[in-house]
Amino acid sequence: MEQLIINGGAALHGRVDISGAKNAALGIIAAALLADGVSTIENVPCVNDVRVLIEAIMDLGVKVEYLDEHTVKIDSRKVDKLVVDYEHIKKIRASYYLLGALLGRFNRSEVAMPGGCNIGQRPIDQHIKGFEALGATVELEHGMVKATADKLVGTNIYLDVVSVGATINIMLSAVMAEGLTVIENPAKEPHIVDVANYLNSMGADIKGAGTDLIKIHGVEKMHGSEYMIIPDQIEAGTYMVAAAITGGDVVVGNLIPKHMEAISAKLHEMGVEVTEEQDTLRVTAKHPLKGVNVKTLPYPGFPTDMQPQMTVLLSIAEGPSVITESIFENRFSYVDELNRMGVKIKVDGNTARTDGVEMLQGAEITATDLRAGAAMVLAGLVAHGETVINHVDFIDRGYEFIEHKLRSLGADIVRKTDDVDRGMFKVV
Ligand code: EPU
Repeated sequence: MEQLIINGGAALHGRVDISGAKNAALGIIAAALLADGVSTIENVPCVNDVRVLIEAIMDLGVKVEYLDEHTVKIDSRKVDKLVVDYEHIKKIRASYYLLGALLGRFNRSEVAMPGGCNIGQRPIDQHIKGFEALGATVELEHGMVKATADKLVGTNIYLDVVSVGATINIMLSAVMAEGLTVIENPAKEPHIVDVANYLNSMGADIKGAGTDLIKIHGVEKMHGSEYMIIPDQIEAGTYMVAAAITGGDVVVGNLIPKHMEAISAKLHEMGVEVTEEQDTLRVTAKHPLKGVNVKTLPYPGFPTDMQPQMTVLLSIAEGPSVITESIFENRFSYVDELNRMGVKIKVDGNTARTDGVEMLQGAEITATDLRAGAAMVLAGLVAHGETVINHVDFIDRGYEFIEHKLRSLGADIVRKTDDVDRGMFKVV
Protein backbone atom coordinates (compact mmCIF):
# COMPACT_ATOMS: atom_id res chain seq x y z
CA MET A 1 0.00 0.00 0.00
CA GLU A 2 1.32 3.43 -0.89
CA GLN A 3 1.11 6.43 1.41
CA LEU A 4 1.63 10.15 1.04
CA ILE A 5 3.59 11.74 3.84
CA ILE A 6 3.28 15.46 4.28
CA ASN A 7 5.01 17.81 6.68
CA GLY A 8 2.68 20.77 6.76
CA GLY A 9 3.35 24.45 7.14
CA ALA A 10 5.09 25.57 3.95
CA ALA A 11 3.35 28.36 2.02
CA LEU A 12 3.26 27.32 -1.65
CA HIS A 13 4.97 29.52 -4.25
CA GLY A 14 5.63 29.26 -7.97
CA ARG A 15 3.75 27.94 -10.99
CA VAL A 16 1.95 24.67 -11.56
CA ASP A 17 0.53 23.53 -14.91
CA ILE A 18 -2.77 21.73 -15.12
CA SER A 19 -3.14 18.39 -16.94
CA GLY A 20 -5.89 17.28 -19.31
CA ALA A 21 -9.39 16.84 -17.88
CA LYS A 22 -9.98 13.32 -16.57
CA ASN A 23 -13.74 13.41 -17.00
CA ALA A 24 -13.45 14.74 -20.57
CA ALA A 25 -10.80 12.12 -21.39
CA LEU A 26 -13.09 9.29 -20.24
CA GLY A 27 -15.93 10.45 -22.52
CA ILE A 28 -13.58 11.09 -25.42
CA ILE A 29 -11.78 7.72 -25.25
CA ALA A 30 -15.17 5.96 -25.30
CA ALA A 31 -16.32 8.24 -28.15
CA ALA A 32 -13.29 7.18 -30.22
CA LEU A 33 -14.99 3.78 -30.60
CA LEU A 34 -17.68 5.35 -32.77
CA ALA A 35 -15.20 5.84 -35.61
CA ASP A 36 -14.36 3.34 -38.26
CA GLY A 37 -10.92 4.94 -38.20
CA VAL A 38 -7.97 6.19 -36.19
CA SER A 39 -7.97 9.09 -33.70
CA THR A 40 -5.05 10.82 -32.06
CA ILE A 41 -5.92 12.35 -28.73
CA GLU A 42 -3.54 14.82 -27.09
CA ASN A 43 -3.35 16.09 -23.50
CA VAL A 44 -4.59 12.77 -22.11
CA PRO A 45 -3.96 12.90 -18.35
CA CYS A 46 -1.70 10.25 -16.87
CA VAL A 47 -4.20 9.08 -14.25
CA ASN A 48 -5.41 5.62 -13.30
CA ASP A 49 -9.05 5.98 -14.38
CA VAL A 50 -7.90 6.78 -17.90
CA ARG A 51 -5.50 3.84 -17.91
CA VAL A 52 -8.28 1.49 -16.82
CA LEU A 53 -10.64 2.70 -19.57
CA ILE A 54 -7.88 2.25 -22.13
CA GLU A 55 -7.40 -1.33 -20.90
CA ALA A 56 -11.15 -1.88 -21.22
CA ILE A 57 -11.22 -0.77 -24.88
CA MET A 58 -8.10 -2.83 -25.66
CA ASP A 59 -9.96 -5.81 -24.23
CA LEU A 60 -12.62 -5.17 -26.92
CA GLY A 61 -9.96 -5.53 -29.60
CA VAL A 62 -9.32 -1.80 -30.18
CA LYS A 63 -5.65 -0.96 -30.87
CA VAL A 64 -4.21 1.70 -28.61
CA GLU A 65 -0.72 3.15 -28.81
CA TYR A 66 0.84 5.81 -26.58
CA LEU A 67 2.78 8.18 -28.90
CA ASP A 68 4.11 9.96 -25.82
CA GLU A 69 3.12 10.24 -22.16
CA HIS A 70 0.03 12.32 -23.01
CA THR A 71 -0.82 11.39 -26.60
CA VAL A 72 -2.83 8.32 -27.45
CA LYS A 73 -3.58 6.85 -30.87
CA ILE A 74 -6.80 4.85 -30.92
CA ASP A 75 -7.47 2.60 -33.91
CA SER A 76 -11.08 1.43 -33.67
CA ARG A 77 -11.44 0.08 -37.21
CA LYS A 78 -11.71 -3.39 -35.74
CA VAL A 79 -13.79 -4.11 -32.64
CA ASP A 80 -13.99 -7.83 -31.75
CA LYS A 81 -16.25 -7.76 -28.73
CA LEU A 82 -19.31 -5.79 -27.63
CA VAL A 83 -19.29 -6.96 -24.02
CA VAL A 84 -17.60 -5.05 -21.19
CA ASP A 85 -17.36 -7.23 -18.10
CA TYR A 86 -17.53 -6.41 -14.40
CA GLU A 87 -13.73 -6.50 -14.07
CA HIS A 88 -13.55 -3.08 -15.76
CA ILE A 89 -16.76 -1.57 -14.38
CA LYS A 90 -15.81 -2.34 -10.79
CA LYS A 91 -12.58 -0.37 -11.23
CA ILE A 92 -14.17 2.59 -12.96
CA ARG A 93 -17.84 3.45 -13.37
CA ALA A 94 -17.22 5.48 -16.52
CA SER A 95 -16.73 2.23 -18.44
CA TYR A 96 -20.50 2.61 -18.88
CA TYR A 97 -19.76 5.11 -21.66
CA LEU A 98 -18.92 2.03 -23.71
CA LEU A 99 -22.60 1.08 -23.48
CA GLY A 100 -23.60 4.23 -25.39
CA ALA A 101 -20.65 4.18 -27.79
CA LEU A 102 -21.01 0.52 -28.84
CA LEU A 103 -24.80 0.84 -29.07
CA GLY A 104 -24.36 3.95 -31.22
CA ARG A 105 -22.04 2.20 -33.66
CA PHE A 106 -23.16 -1.45 -33.66
CA ASN A 107 -26.76 -1.20 -32.33
CA ARG A 108 -25.75 -3.59 -29.59
CA SER A 109 -23.76 -3.51 -26.37
CA GLU A 110 -23.52 -5.26 -23.05
CA VAL A 111 -21.86 -3.72 -20.02
CA ALA A 112 -21.79 -4.78 -16.37
CA MET A 113 -24.18 -2.73 -14.26
CA PRO A 114 -22.19 -0.28 -12.11
CA GLY A 115 -22.93 -0.40 -8.39
CA GLY A 116 -23.02 2.50 -5.97
CA CYS A 117 -19.82 3.96 -4.59
CA ASN A 118 -18.47 5.84 -1.57
CA ILE A 119 -20.20 9.09 -2.52
CA GLY A 120 -23.70 7.79 -3.28
CA GLN A 121 -26.00 5.30 -4.96
CA ARG A 122 -25.47 6.67 -8.45
CA PRO A 123 -28.29 5.07 -10.47
CA ILE A 124 -28.16 5.02 -14.30
CA ASP A 125 -31.92 5.21 -14.97
CA GLN A 126 -31.53 8.37 -17.07
CA HIS A 127 -28.96 6.71 -19.34
CA ILE A 128 -31.33 3.78 -19.86
CA LYS A 129 -34.32 6.08 -20.44
CA GLY A 130 -32.30 7.80 -23.18
CA PHE A 131 -31.32 4.55 -24.94
CA GLU A 132 -34.93 3.31 -24.81
CA ALA A 133 -36.25 6.59 -26.19
CA LEU A 134 -33.89 6.13 -29.16
CA GLY A 135 -35.49 2.73 -29.82
CA ALA A 136 -33.20 0.33 -27.95
CA THR A 137 -34.42 -2.49 -25.77
CA VAL A 138 -32.53 -2.45 -22.50
CA GLU A 139 -32.50 -5.48 -20.20
CA LEU A 140 -30.73 -6.20 -16.95
CA GLU A 141 -29.62 -9.84 -16.79
CA HIS A 142 -27.19 -11.41 -14.33
CA GLY A 143 -25.70 -8.03 -13.46
CA MET A 144 -25.23 -7.03 -17.10
CA VAL A 145 -27.03 -4.17 -18.88
CA LYS A 146 -27.82 -5.32 -22.42
CA ALA A 147 -28.91 -2.78 -25.02
CA THR A 148 -30.03 -3.83 -28.49
CA ALA A 149 -31.79 -2.08 -31.35
CA ASP A 150 -32.78 -2.82 -34.95
CA LYS A 151 -32.01 0.81 -35.57
CA LEU A 152 -31.78 3.93 -33.46
CA VAL A 153 -34.11 6.80 -34.30
CA GLY A 154 -33.73 10.38 -33.05
CA THR A 155 -36.28 11.74 -30.58
CA ASN A 156 -36.80 14.26 -27.72
CA ILE A 157 -35.29 13.21 -24.40
CA TYR A 158 -35.93 15.20 -21.22
CA LEU A 159 -33.53 14.38 -18.37
CA ASP A 160 -35.30 14.30 -14.99
CA VAL A 161 -32.00 15.02 -13.23
CA VAL A 162 -29.08 16.93 -14.65
CA SER A 163 -26.60 14.14 -15.28
CA VAL A 164 -23.13 14.38 -16.80
CA GLY A 165 -23.00 10.64 -17.50
CA ALA A 166 -26.47 10.40 -19.04
CA THR A 167 -25.85 13.46 -21.24
CA ILE A 168 -22.60 11.99 -22.58
CA ASN A 169 -24.01 8.48 -23.00
CA ILE A 170 -27.05 9.78 -24.90
CA MET A 171 -24.83 11.90 -27.17
CA LEU A 172 -22.70 8.81 -27.88
CA SER A 173 -25.69 6.67 -28.77
CA ALA A 174 -27.50 9.37 -30.78
CA VAL A 175 -24.77 10.69 -33.11
CA MET A 176 -25.51 8.04 -35.73
CA ALA A 177 -29.24 7.63 -35.01
CA GLU A 178 -31.65 8.43 -37.83
CA GLY A 179 -32.94 12.02 -37.75
CA LEU A 180 -32.91 14.58 -34.94
CA THR A 181 -32.31 13.91 -31.22
CA VAL A 182 -32.96 16.72 -28.75
CA ILE A 183 -31.66 16.45 -25.15
CA GLU A 184 -33.54 18.79 -22.82
CA ASN A 185 -32.14 19.65 -19.38
CA PRO A 186 -28.68 18.28 -20.19
CA ALA A 187 -25.56 18.76 -18.07
CA LYS A 188 -23.48 21.76 -19.18
CA GLU A 189 -20.08 20.94 -17.66
CA PRO A 190 -16.97 21.86 -19.68
CA HIS A 191 -16.34 18.15 -20.33
CA ILE A 192 -19.77 17.84 -21.99
CA VAL A 193 -18.73 20.53 -24.46
CA ASP A 194 -15.34 18.88 -24.94
CA VAL A 195 -16.86 15.47 -25.75
CA ALA A 196 -19.32 17.15 -28.18
CA ASN A 197 -16.46 19.05 -29.86
CA TYR A 198 -14.50 15.85 -30.31
CA LEU A 199 -17.58 14.07 -31.72
CA ASN A 200 -18.09 16.97 -34.16
CA SER A 201 -14.44 16.71 -35.21
CA MET A 202 -15.22 13.03 -36.04
CA GLY A 203 -18.08 14.04 -38.34
CA ALA A 204 -21.01 14.31 -35.90
CA ASP A 205 -23.51 17.18 -36.05
CA ILE A 206 -24.10 18.33 -32.45
CA LYS A 207 -25.25 21.84 -31.61
CA GLY A 208 -25.92 23.46 -28.24
CA ALA A 209 -23.58 21.48 -25.97
CA GLY A 210 -23.03 23.68 -22.91
CA THR A 211 -26.55 25.18 -23.18
CA ASP A 212 -29.98 24.03 -21.98
CA LEU A 213 -30.76 22.20 -25.22
CA ILE A 214 -28.54 19.86 -27.25
CA LYS A 215 -29.57 19.07 -30.83
CA ILE A 216 -28.01 16.12 -32.59
CA HIS A 217 -28.61 15.48 -36.28
CA GLY A 218 -27.68 11.85 -36.93
CA VAL A 219 -24.90 11.19 -39.45
CA GLU A 220 -24.20 7.94 -41.30
CA LYS A 221 -20.58 7.47 -40.44
CA MET A 222 -17.93 8.80 -38.09
CA HIS A 223 -14.23 9.05 -38.85
CA GLY A 224 -11.12 9.32 -36.70
CA SER A 225 -9.71 12.76 -35.92
CA GLU A 226 -7.00 14.63 -34.04
CA TYR A 227 -8.11 16.30 -30.85
CA MET A 228 -6.68 17.98 -27.76
CA ILE A 229 -8.45 17.56 -24.41
CA ILE A 230 -9.23 20.66 -22.31
CA PRO A 231 -7.49 21.31 -18.96
CA ASP A 232 -8.96 19.75 -15.82
CA GLN A 233 -11.23 22.20 -14.00
CA ILE A 234 -11.12 20.22 -10.75
CA GLU A 235 -7.35 19.70 -10.70
CA ALA A 236 -6.99 23.46 -11.28
CA GLY A 237 -9.44 24.22 -8.47
CA THR A 238 -7.57 21.88 -6.13
CA TYR A 239 -4.27 23.75 -6.71
CA MET A 240 -6.06 27.09 -6.26
CA VAL A 241 -7.24 25.89 -2.85
CA ALA A 242 -3.71 24.57 -2.11
CA ALA A 243 -2.40 28.11 -2.64
CA ALA A 244 -5.16 29.58 -0.47
CA ILE A 245 -4.93 27.09 2.39
CA THR A 246 -1.16 27.54 2.77
CA GLY A 247 -1.31 31.35 2.52
CA GLY A 248 0.78 31.08 -0.63
CA ASP A 249 1.20 32.78 -3.99
CA VAL A 250 0.75 30.38 -6.90
CA VAL A 251 0.24 30.82 -10.64
CA VAL A 252 -2.05 28.01 -11.80
CA GLY A 253 -1.24 27.67 -15.48
CA ASN A 254 -2.76 26.01 -18.52
CA LEU A 255 -6.37 26.38 -17.40
CA ILE A 256 -9.48 28.01 -18.85
CA PRO A 257 -10.37 30.88 -16.44
CA LYS A 258 -14.05 30.84 -17.54
CA HIS A 259 -14.38 27.24 -16.24
CA MET A 260 -13.07 28.37 -12.86
CA GLU A 261 -15.54 31.22 -12.22
CA ALA A 262 -17.60 29.57 -9.45
CA ILE A 263 -14.43 28.56 -7.60
CA SER A 264 -12.64 31.90 -8.14
CA ALA A 265 -15.73 33.79 -6.91
CA LYS A 266 -15.92 31.77 -3.66
CA LEU A 267 -12.20 32.16 -2.99
CA HIS A 268 -12.53 35.91 -3.62
CA GLU A 269 -15.45 36.08 -1.17
CA MET A 270 -13.16 34.48 1.44
CA GLY A 271 -10.55 37.19 0.94
CA VAL A 272 -8.25 35.33 -1.46
CA GLU A 273 -6.84 37.36 -4.36
CA VAL A 274 -7.41 35.69 -7.74
CA THR A 275 -5.95 37.47 -10.77
CA GLU A 276 -6.60 36.35 -14.33
CA GLU A 277 -4.06 36.52 -17.10
CA GLN A 278 -4.68 34.67 -20.39
CA ASP A 279 -4.61 30.97 -19.51
CA THR A 280 -3.48 31.41 -15.89
CA LEU A 281 -4.92 32.40 -12.55
CA ARG A 282 -2.63 33.77 -9.87
CA VAL A 283 -3.88 32.91 -6.39
CA THR A 284 -2.52 34.88 -3.42
CA ALA A 285 -3.79 34.47 0.12
CA LYS A 286 -3.09 35.93 3.54
CA HIS A 287 -4.66 34.32 6.60
CA PRO A 288 -7.06 34.64 8.30
CA LEU A 289 -9.61 33.94 5.58
CA LYS A 290 -13.36 34.57 5.99
CA GLY A 291 -15.95 31.80 6.29
CA VAL A 292 -18.57 31.66 3.50
CA ASN A 293 -21.52 29.50 2.48
CA VAL A 294 -21.14 27.08 -0.42
CA LYS A 295 -23.77 25.01 -2.21
CA THR A 296 -22.82 22.49 -4.88
CA LEU A 297 -24.78 22.66 -8.12
CA PRO A 298 -24.43 21.46 -11.70
CA TYR A 299 -22.21 23.69 -13.89
CA PRO A 300 -21.97 26.70 -13.92
CA GLY A 301 -22.61 26.28 -10.17
CA PHE A 302 -20.01 25.28 -7.62
CA PRO A 303 -18.80 21.74 -8.55
CA THR A 304 -19.47 18.84 -6.19
CA ASP A 305 -16.00 17.55 -7.11
CA MET A 306 -14.54 20.60 -5.29
CA GLN A 307 -16.75 20.29 -2.20
CA PRO A 308 -14.34 18.30 0.03
CA GLN A 309 -11.38 20.55 -0.87
CA MET A 310 -13.42 23.69 -0.16
CA THR A 311 -14.76 22.24 3.11
CA VAL A 312 -11.18 21.73 4.33
CA LEU A 313 -10.30 25.31 3.40
CA LEU A 314 -13.37 26.61 5.25
CA SER A 315 -12.44 24.49 8.26
CA ILE A 316 -9.54 26.87 8.96
CA ALA A 317 -11.33 30.11 7.97
CA GLU A 318 -12.68 32.55 10.57
CA GLY A 319 -16.39 32.67 11.21
CA PRO A 320 -19.27 30.40 10.30
CA SER A 321 -19.51 28.50 7.01
CA VAL A 322 -22.29 26.26 5.77
CA ILE A 323 -21.55 23.79 2.98
CA THR A 324 -24.54 22.18 1.26
CA GLU A 325 -24.04 19.15 -0.99
CA SER A 326 -26.90 18.90 -3.45
CA ILE A 327 -25.57 16.40 -6.02
CA PHE A 328 -24.55 13.27 -4.08
CA GLU A 329 -26.20 11.96 -0.91
CA ASN A 330 -23.09 10.67 0.82
CA ARG A 331 -20.30 13.11 0.09
CA PHE A 332 -19.33 14.11 3.65
CA SER A 333 -18.12 10.74 4.92
CA TYR A 334 -14.50 11.96 4.78
CA VAL A 335 -15.24 14.40 7.63
CA ASP A 336 -14.95 11.57 10.18
CA GLU A 337 -11.35 11.02 9.07
CA LEU A 338 -10.60 14.75 9.16
CA ASN A 339 -11.83 14.93 12.77
CA ARG A 340 -8.59 13.14 13.61
CA MET A 341 -6.74 16.25 12.39
CA GLY A 342 -8.72 18.55 14.66
CA VAL A 343 -11.30 19.99 12.26
CA LYS A 344 -14.55 21.11 13.87
CA ILE A 345 -17.13 20.30 11.23
CA LYS A 346 -20.67 19.20 12.10
CA VAL A 347 -22.45 17.19 9.43
CA ASP A 348 -26.21 16.97 9.36
CA GLY A 349 -27.53 15.13 6.31
CA ASN A 350 -26.34 16.98 3.24
CA THR A 351 -25.11 20.03 5.18
CA ALA A 352 -21.84 20.65 6.97
CA ARG A 353 -21.16 23.56 9.32
CA THR A 354 -17.88 24.86 10.65
CA ASP A 355 -16.73 27.91 12.58
CA GLY A 356 -13.14 27.23 11.65
CA VAL A 357 -10.22 26.32 13.88
CA GLU A 358 -6.89 28.08 14.09
CA MET A 359 -4.79 25.05 13.38
CA LEU A 360 -5.00 21.46 12.11
CA GLN A 361 -2.77 18.75 13.49
CA GLY A 362 -1.01 16.12 11.42
CA ALA A 363 -2.34 12.55 11.85
CA GLU A 364 -2.59 9.26 9.97
CA ILE A 365 -5.77 9.26 7.88
CA THR A 366 -7.28 7.22 5.08
CA ALA A 367 -8.65 8.55 1.79
CA THR A 368 -12.27 7.48 1.25
CA ASP A 369 -12.60 8.53 -2.41
CA LEU A 370 -10.76 10.59 -5.01
CA ARG A 371 -11.78 14.13 -4.02
CA ALA A 372 -11.83 13.32 -0.30
CA GLY A 373 -8.23 12.15 -0.77
CA ALA A 374 -7.33 15.46 -2.41
CA ALA A 375 -8.96 17.32 0.48
CA MET A 376 -6.85 15.30 2.94
CA VAL A 377 -3.69 16.28 1.07
CA LEU A 378 -4.76 19.93 1.39
CA ALA A 379 -5.36 19.46 5.11
CA GLY A 380 -1.89 17.91 5.42
CA LEU A 381 -0.28 20.90 3.68
CA VAL A 382 -1.49 23.28 6.38
CA ALA A 383 -1.43 20.95 9.41
CA HIS A 384 1.13 21.20 12.16
CA GLY A 385 3.47 18.19 11.98
CA GLU A 386 3.28 15.03 9.90
CA THR A 387 0.22 13.75 8.06
CA VAL A 388 0.19 10.24 6.60
CA ILE A 389 -2.47 9.49 3.99
CA ASN A 390 -3.41 5.89 3.25
CA HIS A 391 -5.20 4.65 0.13
CA VAL A 392 -3.34 6.93 -2.25
CA ASP A 393 -4.77 4.79 -5.06
CA PHE A 394 -7.96 6.85 -4.77
CA ILE A 395 -5.98 10.05 -5.40
CA ASP A 396 -4.06 8.50 -8.30
CA ARG A 397 -7.37 7.88 -10.07
CA GLY A 398 -7.63 11.56 -10.93
CA TYR A 399 -4.50 13.57 -10.06
CA GLU A 400 -1.42 13.35 -12.25
CA PHE A 401 1.93 13.38 -10.39
CA ILE A 402 0.35 15.11 -7.38
CA GLU A 403 3.37 14.89 -5.08
CA HIS A 404 5.74 16.12 -7.82
CA LYS A 405 3.54 19.09 -8.64
CA LEU A 406 3.15 20.05 -4.98
CA ARG A 407 6.86 19.57 -4.28
CA SER A 408 7.71 21.92 -7.16
CA LEU A 409 5.65 24.55 -5.30
CA GLY A 410 7.65 24.02 -2.10
CA ALA A 411 5.49 21.47 -0.26
CA ASP A 412 7.18 18.84 1.87
CA ILE A 413 5.44 15.73 0.51
CA VAL A 414 6.76 12.28 -0.40
CA ARG A 415 5.24 9.00 -1.48
CA LYS A 416 6.15 5.91 0.48
CA THR A 417 6.03 2.84 -1.73
CA ASP A 418 5.92 -0.72 -0.54
CA ASP A 419 8.78 -2.10 -2.64
CA VAL A 420 8.08 -5.82 -2.65
CA ASP A 421 11.20 -6.65 -4.68
CA ARG A 422 13.47 -5.37 -1.99
CA GLY A 423 11.17 -6.21 0.88
CA MET A 424 11.45 -2.67 2.24
CA PHE A 425 9.84 0.73 2.04
CA LYS A 426 11.30 3.35 -0.23
CA VAL A 427 10.45 7.02 -0.39
CA VAL A 428 9.98 8.59 -3.84
N1 EPU B 1 -28.36 10.41 -11.41
C1 EPU B 1 -29.56 9.72 -11.43
N2 EPU B 1 -29.82 8.93 -12.51
C2 EPU B 1 -28.94 8.79 -13.55
C3 EPU B 1 -27.73 9.48 -13.51
C4 EPU B 1 -27.46 10.29 -12.41
O1 EPU B 1 -30.37 9.84 -10.52
O2 EPU B 1 -29.25 8.04 -14.48
C5 EPU B 1 -28.06 11.29 -10.26
C6 EPU B 1 -26.80 10.85 -9.51
O3 EPU B 1 -27.08 9.85 -8.55
C7 EPU B 1 -26.36 12.16 -8.89
C8 EPU B 1 -26.74 13.20 -9.96
O4 EPU B 1 -27.72 12.57 -10.77
O5 EPU B 1 -27.10 12.41 -7.73
C9 EPU B 1 -25.61 13.66 -10.85
O6 EPU B 1 -24.88 12.55 -11.34
P1 EPU B 1 -24.10 12.54 -12.72
O7 EPU B 1 -24.71 11.55 -13.62
O8 EPU B 1 -23.96 13.95 -13.21
O9 EPU B 1 -22.68 12.02 -12.26
P2 EPU B 1 -21.75 11.02 -13.05
O10 EPU B 1 -21.88 11.22 -14.50
O11 EPU B 1 -21.91 9.66 -12.48
C10 EPU B 1 -19.76 12.70 -13.25
C11 EPU B 1 -18.31 12.71 -12.87
C12 EPU B 1 -18.20 12.81 -11.35
C13 EPU B 1 -18.90 14.08 -10.91
C14 EPU B 1 -20.35 14.11 -11.39
C15 EPU B 1 -21.10 15.40 -11.08
C16 EPU B 1 -17.31 11.44 -14.61
C17 EPU B 1 -16.63 10.19 -15.03
N3 EPU B 1 -17.69 11.50 -13.35
O12 EPU B 1 -20.32 11.56 -12.61
O13 EPU B 1 -16.82 12.91 -11.08
O14 EPU B 1 -18.90 14.15 -9.50
O15 EPU B 1 -20.38 13.91 -12.82
O16 EPU B 1 -20.44 16.48 -11.66
O17 EPU B 1 -17.44 12.36 -15.40
C18 EPU B 1 -14.87 12.74 -9.81
O18 EPU B 1 -14.22 13.09 -10.82
O19 EPU B 1 -14.35 12.69 -8.65
C19 EPU B 1 -16.28 12.40 -9.93
C20 EPU B 1 -16.94 11.73 -9.01
